[in-house]
Amino acid sequence: MSINNVYQPTAENLARAAEAIKSGKLVSFPTDTVYGLGANVYNAQAVANIFKAKERPLFDPLISHIAEIDFLPEYVETDSRVMDLARHFWPGPLTFVLKRKDNNPSIDLACAGLGSLAVRMPNHPVALALIKQSGVPIVAPSANKFKTVSPTTAQHVQDSLGDKVDMILEGGACKIGVETTIIDLTGKQVTILRAGGLAREDLEDFLGEKVLINDTSSSRPTAPGQLLKHYAPKLPLRINVEEKDVKEDEFFIAFGTTKRQANINLSKKGDLCEAAANLFAAFVRSRSQFVCCFKRG
Ligand code: TXA
Ligand code: MG
Repeated sequence: MSINNVYQPTAENLARAAEAIKSGKLVSFPTDTVYGLGANVYNAQAVANIFKAKERPLFDPLISHIAEIDFLPEYVETDSRVMDLARHFWPGPLTFVLKRKDNNPSIDLACAGLGSLAVRMPNHPVALALIKQSGVPIVAPSANKFKTVSPTTAQHVQDSLGDKVDMILEGGACKIGVETTIIDLTGKQVTILRAGGLAREDLEDFLGEKVLINDTSSSRPTAPGQLLKHYAPKLPLRINVEEKDVKEDEFFIAFGTTKRQANINLSKKGDLCEAAANLFAAFVRSRSQFVCCFKRG
C-alpha cells in the first residue's frame, strides 16, 4: 500500500521534520541540485538506514549538508583556500572533499571509513531551514534507489522511496537538476571528482589555475559518482544521435530546435542549464524501449 508522506514546508512541518532528523528518522528535502534523503550524521543507525533504503553499498560515502560557513572549520580541516571557495560558491552546487578533523567514530559510516569527508551548503531555503533547526549536519545522498536517476521533484522521491522515508518536504522542482560538482581539496591541486552543477571554468576563473579532472571509473571508487553504472535510466539510452537516425519506436529527447517531433525537448532555446534541470525528469517520463538524445548544434 502506498502512503503519501509529502509535506508542504510550513513552519509547523519544518519543526516536525527537524525533530524527525534529531530523533534518527529519514527526511527527504529539496536542494538546489536534486532532492536529498537526509539523516543526522551523528546517528549511525539513521545513517545505516539511508544505505538500506537506497540499497546502496556501504563503501560509497555520503555528503554532509551544513547551513553556515562558520561551522565548516569546526567540522573538517580547512585552510584559506577552502574558506575562500566556500565564501564565493556557497550556498551553491559545489561539494568539497576535505580531510576529517577528528576520528569521531559516529561519522565513520557517513565517510565510509575514509580519512576525508564530503561537505556542501545547498542553496535552497527549505534545506537551510531544516539543517539549522535540526542543529546537526545532515548527510544526504540523492533520494533515489542506488544507480537510478536522481529525483528533481518531491513526486519522484515519493515514487522511488516513498514507503522508506518518514517525511518528504515539498520544495518544487530543483532549479539545477543535476548533482553538485565535487572537488577534492585534500591535495595541492584542486581536482574534480564528479562533474555537476558548477562548471570547471568557473572554478578555474576563481582560483586562477587549472583544475584537474579525475575520470577513472571503477567498481569500487575512491572518487564519487564514478561507478561504472551510475545515474542509469531504466531503459537503454543512446546519446548524441542525429535527428535523422532516431528510430520510430524510440522516445526522442531533443535539445534545441528540431524538425522532427520530439517526445520531450530539454530546452527549445538550446540553454544547457534549462536542459540539465529537465534531464532526469525526462528519463523518468520515457516509457518506450529506447531513449534518445539529440546532438547539440
Ligand atoms: O547534488 C548533490 O550532491 C546531491 C544533493 C542531495 O546534495 N547529493 C548527492 O549525493 O549527489 P550522492 O550520495 O548521490 O553522491 C555523493 C558522491 C558519492 O558518489 C560518493 O562516492 C562521493 O560523493 N563522496 C562522498 N564522500 C566522499 C569522500 N570523502 N571522498 C570521495 N568521494 C566522496
Ligand atoms: Mg546520487
